[in-house]
Amino acid sequence: MNGYHANIPAGSLKRLCDEFKKYNQISPELFDTYHVKRGLRNSDGTGVLAGLTRICNVHGYLINEGEKMPIEGELIYRGINVKEIVKGCQKDNRFGFEEVIWLLLFGRLPNKDQLEAFNAILGELRELPPYFTEDVLMKAPSPNIMNKMGRAVLALYSYDDNPEDTSIENVLSQSIKLIAKMPTLMVHAYQVKRKNFDHDTMFFHPLEPAHSTAESILATMRPDKQFTDEEAKLLDICLILHAEHGGGNNSTFSCRCLSSTGTDTYSAISAAIGSLKGPRHGGANLKVMEMMEYIKKGVSDWEDDEEVSAFLEKLLKKEAGDRSGLIYGMGHAVYTISDPRAVILKENARKLAEKKGMLDEFKLIESVERLAPAAFAKVKNNNKYICANVDLYSGMVYKMLGMPPELFTPLFAVARIPGWCAHRIEEITTANRIMRPAYKAISQPLEYTPLDQR
Ligand code: COA
Repeated sequence: MNGYHANIPAGSLKRLCDEFKKYNQISPELFDTYHVKRGLRNSDGTGVLAGLTRICNVHGYLINEGEKMPIEGELIYRGINVKEIVKGCQKDNRFGFEEVIWLLLFGRLPNKDQLEAFNAILGELRELPPYFTEDVLMKAPSPNIMNKMGRAVLALYSYDDNPEDTSIENVLSQSIKLIAKMPTLMVHAYQVKRKNFDHDTMFFHPLEPAHSTAESILATMRPDKQFTDEEAKLLDICLILHAEHGGGNNSTFSCRCLSSTGTDTYSAISAAIGSLKGPRHGGANLKVMEMMEYIKKGVSDWEDDEEVSAFLEKLLKKEAGDRSGLIYGMGHAVYTISDPRAVILKENARKLAEKKGMLDEFKLIESVERLAPAAFAKVKNNNKYICANVDLYSGMVYKMLGMPPELFTPLFAVARIPGWCAHRIEEITTANRIMRPAYKAISQPLEYTPLDQR
């Protein structure tokens, strides 16, 4: 093919790759020689200290006389245990994501009047600018909603009269608008994807400002706009649990890194979306559901622990599944004995699994959680703690809510943007240094050779 559609011929590409491989290897031992903190981790797996934050505490171990001691995980938003936030909202039978947004942005829980006013503001701001869907989302459609959302956030720069101003007032205003619009961006990008890639019907329901974020997502996603209160409350819990996870998680760190340069809000948030998309980060919830399909097909008796364990060992040995050697939904960089988000989600999802006739699948996930640590210890000969992380259950919850798999990670982005914004504001107002770590150069000096002598 010519012009725009031209491709590098396969033979040339192979030669280019071979050329690249000749000069671009770095042997793993060199990382130890130069004491490189791979993945910005210390040798005991703890993260390199990169900053201070008042926003969140992800608590997964204690250090006792230099030794890492495993503990039950805790997730603390602005000093308050997320378990208590969920409990408090359930006690009053109300939605909680909006008060979590307020808590993360401002630092304290809103009072009744503040919350009511904030809900009204968010409801009004969910609307996209006129013709944004036609001009931005429908043009150059993408099969990947995260890609489209990242581009849509960048495009919103052009609809902002004051995009570069990094004063607190302006960044706060940009943040609240982006937080409110993210669900609409997700749903509209999904509709465009349906039309262009699934050859299905697009539908855009009018938004209902009185809806909570969870209700608005369910109403706009479903052709008949119908959902139950139980479904909306479960989605609300997912949003609460995914809203924030400390400054060091990759997408938040990306957002803080870009923010440290003084760049605009749209650039910093679209970078965070790009980071979250990765399968080692937010993309894992999708990988869990793919993995569960492999397990369902590869295990004949889902209640037979031995058979499930044997399959998990095959996954670890790269003999089954996507051959990555990973059991997705297990393990965490900070949590050791438990990830509180997985615990809360599991507790709240069981009832709906029963109602939706998906209890067998739910129990199979529980078996993976129960049996994976022993399989991991056996295959890897490693005594590292690996517990179920939030992604083991979130994909299942989204599936029960009728969400298509391509929205699993975008839903995470919708939930996490308050955390990103809170950290961006904290970075701008407190850190005041461009992030600039070092890379040790290990190349050897080389003479420049004139072209006719190479
Ligand atoms: N399945 C298989 N092996 C795993 C594993 C898992 N779920 N979790 C960790 N490991 C292995 C790693 O492959 C590595 O093995 P290696 O030394 O042979 O390379 C070793 O344990 C240490 O891994 P490391 O990446 O340092 O551990 P970590 O605790 O920092 O990793 C995760 C955290 C989340 C990246 C990792 O547990 C993982 O990849 N999990 C699966 C993906 C997932 O569920 N991600 C969502 C996170 S919320």
